Amino acid sequence: MKKFKRTTVTTALPYANGPVHVGHLAGVYVPADIYVRYLRLKGEDVLFIGGSDEHGVPITIKARQEGVTPQDIVDRYHTIIKKSFEDFGISFDIYSRTTSKTHKELASDIFKTIYDKGGFIEQSSEQYYDEKARQFLADRYITGKCPHCGNEHAYGDQCESCGTSLSPNDLINPKSTISGSIPVMRETKHWYLPLNQHENWLRQWILEEHKEWKPNVYGQCKSWLDMGLQPRAVSRDLDWGIPVPVEGAEGKVLYVWFDAPIGYISNTKELLPDSWEKWWKDDETRLIHFIGKDNIVFHCIVFPAMLKAEGSYILPDNVPANEFLNLEGDKISTSRNWAVWLHEYLEKFPQKQDVLRYVLTANAPETKDNDFTWRDFQARNNNELVAIYGNFINRALVLTHKYFEGKVPDSGELNDYDKQTLSEFVNVKAELEKLLDNFRFRDALKEAMNLARIGNKYLADTEPWKVAKTDMERVATIMHLSLQIAANLAVAFEPFLPFSSEKLRKMLNLKTFDWKDLGRTDLLKAGDLLGDAELLFDKIEDTTINEQVQKLLDTKKNNEVAAWKANEVKEIVSFDDFQKVDIRVGTVLDCQKVPKADKLLQFRIADGLEERTILSGIAAYYPNPQELIGTQVCFIANFEPRKLRGILSEGMILSAEDADGKLVLIQPQTKVSNGIEVK
Ligand code: 2FM
Ligand code: ZN
Repeated sequence: MKKFKRTTVTTALPYANGPVHVGHLAGVYVPADIYVRYLRLKGEDVLFIGGSDEHGVPITIKARQEGVTPQDIVDRYHTIIKKSFEDFGISFDIYSRTTSKTHKELASDIFKTIYDKGGFIEQSSEQYYDEKARQFLADRYITGKCPHCGNEHAYGDQCESCGTSLSPNDLINPKSTISGSIPVMRETKHWYLPLNQHENWLRQWILEEHKEWKPNVYGQCKSWLDMGLQPRAVSRDLDWGIPVPVEGAEGKVLYVWFDAPIGYISNTKELLPDSWEKWWKDDETRLIHFIGKDNIVFHCIVFPAMLKAEGSYILPDNVPANEFLNLEGDKISTSRNWAVWLHEYLEKFPQKQDVLRYVLTANAPETKDNDFTWRDFQARNNNELVAIYGNFINRALVLTHKYFEGKVPDSGELNDYDKQTLSEFVNVKAELEKLLDNFRFRDALKEAMNLARIGNKYLADTEPWKVAKTDMERVATIMHLSLQIAANLAVAFEPFLPFSSEKLRKMLNLKTFDWKDLGRTDLLKAGDLLGDAELLFDKIEDTTINEQVQKLLDTKKNNEVAAWKANEVKEIVSFDDFQKVDIRVGTVLDCQKVPKADKLLQFRIADGLEERTILSGIAAYYPNPQELIGTQVCFIANFEPRKLRGILSEGMILSAEDADGKLVLIQPQTKVSNGIEVK
């Protein structure tokens, strides 16, 4: 294996058109941060680059919707996103943005270099143009009828109703969302990166020389390559972005996917104006891109082709892309507000960054899409962090304070059980390294947790609180060993749970702190004074979790109501026909559930003439049916009698069905006489 001198780690630049959520954290930023912290602990030379992606059409759409400038939008979200990452301990060396001066210059320069070398082809094509607004229309700015499902509001790139990818030409009756006018086709010139010309070396480089890439990444690249690569436009007709720096390109900007990955380089340059090149141009530098699966083709094919065409840059050594994280069974969606936003999480769970980091790593979508649920979050906190890791640390610290006034006791003689426990530690460093080096963070976290399990079991088995009655020397040995395990945990968990590790280090008064210490049993010396014992984690109660679940249920309900559309009006009926339906008001004399029928309520109604029984399928929405007694309902008096569950139902009670399927009784606003007709 090639030996490298340093590692450049990048994380996908999130679009600055909304805050970041758990999906971002789980897929990209937590794994990258674990990796970087691990390398730093090992004393390796590593640079961790992040930033916001501030160009592209969605940002202009949001600005237009809000009546502000795109710059206002990116200023707002860049600030929020940057803070979220800081709050969660994502330890970037720099988090900058693609509207920076350094970035605009570098992206421009790289375009020019490729251009001068003849690395682009120019091509004209017909695209939709809005004559009223006098501009070409990005796909998202065109709406029309979906040819597949008939949705009238499909976008030029996708129908959100049936999920089909579209091109603007597919839309029936296309309309510009800017002016509302019907767009026309007009010719426009663009610059293309001829990926087809790069296919051969890309095939060799990925398919032959990078067989070690994750199967999901390798597989996606292979299928792109096998389909055959096509030239890709790297410019757009848009007024938000970096101007295409050549003559005859007025009104055109670099395509967002051309400039965004260059952001990795320009942010490095902003941080290290004099020494950035060694991080990007030296063969002894290893470049790793952490991304989500939707970004694979850009990082494995398009960006490398750009860098190759430019000529002076290194190519990525690995691109450990993750799959997606879903939320409570549904795809995370910014527009549907189906997400756990990081800034909101911290308002509800202050100081609990590590809990989320833990849950997202334990559940990371490394090989397939995974689901975040609040119940799992609670269970992992209560049953793992609190019950295993936290519990062990707390007992080790509290007992040492109790029996030895907070001083690390002498080790004394180890017995066989002690030695056996220690032997379980010997391989942990190598094991963790193997997993971390291969980006298997879930398994690595499990391994670290196993260390805590060993500690927990050791204390449970040796029971120092009982031994203390007879043999303090033995207690000293047990506590000495437990504290060494605790110190190891501080090191092992540092990449994953940095806040807790820091807290633990303070409690242990741990001076040396180095990856190479892992597995050692002399991290604390006899006589060292410990700090105060505090709880590392605390239990999360059902009520807190229920609140979060309810919040999501409310979101779902709001979305359903917002998405609900009234049915088409039915065929016209005459007054005579309407007259045939005899709708009346009656008073509920009795109301109860029909035994063994989940849905049915049995009503006894005073109808003004006599009494009648009517069954209605609304039990699910009226859990306390007796509360309806005395109220009035509307019913169809001449509805054909039917037998349900052996009971004769004489009529039909009227209710309205809400967007979420909930049934609500139609009841007169003030009391009227029984038997009154509804007209
Ligand atoms: O998919 C996204 O959110 C893009 N903004 C990622 C860009 S990654 C890199 F190229 F900057
Ligand atoms: Zn559709």
